[in-house]
Amino acid sequence: MSNTRTRLVMGNWKMHGNLGQNAKLLASLRAAPRSASGTLMAVCVPFPYLAQAAEALKGSAISWGAQDVSAQAQGAFTGEVSGAMLVDFSCRWALVGHSERRSLHGETDQLVADKAKAALACGITPVVCVGESLAERDAGQAVAVITRQLAPVLALGAEAVKKMVVAYEPVWAIGTGRTASPEQAQEVHAAIRAALVAAGAGNIQILYGGSVKASNAASLFAMPDIDGALVGGASLVAEDFIAIAA
Ligand code: 13P
Repeated sequence: MSNTRTRLVMGNWKMHGNLGQNAKLLASLRAAPRSASGTLMAVCVPFPYLAQAAEALKGSAISWGAQDVSAQAQGAFTGEVSGAMLVDFSCRWALVGHSERRSLHGETDQLVADKAKAALACGITPVVCVGESLAERDAGQAVAVITRQLAPVLALGAEAVKKMVVAYEPVWAIGTGRTASPEQAQEVHAAIRAALVAAGAGNIQILYGGSVKASNAASLFAMPDIDGALVGGASLVAEDFIAIAA
């Protein structure tokens, strides 16, 4: 099935990197030929390295963003980073609700929606991450969990949701080497698509994340509702990340 959505391959560096390693990685990404498929590439880097990414990627086809954003605009929120601060570094993207934020930092579905709203208010595209745990999948609850996670986001209204990206990242596939099969991923992507259609924003990109590698990217991307990938580990190795986009 063909669709009009541009494919997007986004790296999530998580808490990895240093100035020296980043310089090499960013230079390699910048030097890579643009994927013949027209796939867009982006990287979400740790906050301290946003200036470095902006400098290294300026004028290239690769965009950059952050891994989180505060739900607050400004004020006494020690340790938080606002959307306006991300705009100062020309961020195009902010991940919100990554499973590591939800599980390790207690982020609720409502907080994730508030962060998405705060990003939009600054002109940054929120990449709203959702995904079920293994226990939830085994209990047949995958779609129910994702529906619950998305509810406060969809409540922001069609005009807001149309400016977002959704990333489906089953928790059991993150960093485990155990990718969802293309059929397993497509089943959930189709459910997300149906929810987005019902919310009036059916044509936004839905990325898959969880142990995406060059060896499994093509079969995932062949699915009708998988519009790209959110890549962790493999985004730290230039050749691997470039191969996924290619
Ligand atoms: P891995 O690609 O390392 O499994 O990580 C996926 C992820 O969490 C991206 O946000």
